[in-house]
Amino acid sequence: MNSVNDSTETESIARLSVTSLTVRYGDLVAVRDVTLAFPDGRITALVGPSGCGKSSFLHSLNRLTDLIPGCRVTGGIRLFDGTDIAHPRADVLALRRRIGIVFQRPNPFPQSIRRNFEIPLREHGWHRRDIPDKMETVLRQVGLWKEVSDRLHKSAVALSGGQQQRLCLARALALDPEVILFDEPCSALDPIASGVVEDLIHSLRDRLTVAIVTHNLAQARRIADHVAVFWHRDGAGQLIESGPAGRVLAAPSDPDAMSYLGGMRG
Ligand SMILES: Nc1ncnc2c1ncn2[C@@H]1O[C@H](COP(=O)(O)OP(=O)(O)O)[C@@H](O)[C@H]1O
Ligand SMILES: [Mg+2]
Repeated sequence: MNSVNDSTETESIARLSVTSLTVRYGDLVAVRDVTLAFPDGRITALVGPSGCGKSSFLHSLNRLTDLIPGCRVTGGIRLFDGTDIAHPRADVLALRRRIGIVFQRPNPFPQSIRRNFEIPLREHGWHRRDIPDKMETVLRQVGLWKEVSDRLHKSAVALSGGQQQRLCLARALALDPEVILFDEPCSALDPIASGVVEDLIHSLRDRLTVAIVTHNLAQARRIADHVAVFWHRDGAGQLIESGPAGRVLAAPSDPDAMSYLGGMRG
């Protein structure tokens, strides 16, 4: 694991780049002027105390903030090929295929397990006959196939919390995203289910670019290649420190980051 965190490899290209991003809810500035790049195939952990804008930042990256009345996002969000995610006329459906998201509370559709794959895949233009194979592939990937293959017609919400979260991950993976955003994906789960989901997220490294908001600094230490520390300062959530996980977690230069990561504050 240390070889991951202490990696001295030359930095990979940014799959996703955010420049001067500000997120407002009416007069409230939830996130101010954040510039951050997400290296390709790497796991970037966003950490910091609650209320410092981590979720607002993350949700703006695939335009979920569009759905909140009064929410305004300014600044740049670009994929490596130049696709301008923040553009008002960006194809939001297409970019949500490229950038998936998994939330804190598992949110399967309250329908059958099978429908949880048919709905998004049909929406994204998949042919009905291709769906069963894809569903099996991603359910195997999250270790759920053996548990659910004989009950695909049963309700997804009857699964345990951990199984539901793995289903949500499989549903996100089914669209072959380039980036997956996780907003505290383990914090509603028991320790064993949490460990399983964490291992799955870690296994995505290299194949996918991952951004994960986590309250759990030990988790960040275990899986993150890069760490970004958010803080509420001067009336807004801000990025106060970011860089390779080994350096940021061991020797942050910002005093607030230092006390937070040292467990003294936050
Ligand atoms: N939908 C919303 N409407 C209004 N204010 C919000 C909304 N969501 C978050 N906020 C506010 O934005 C700030 C940042 O919240 P959030 O992004 O959830 O932080 P974090 O994820 O770090 O806990 C907080 O002050 C919060 O109350
Ligand atoms: Mg949050």
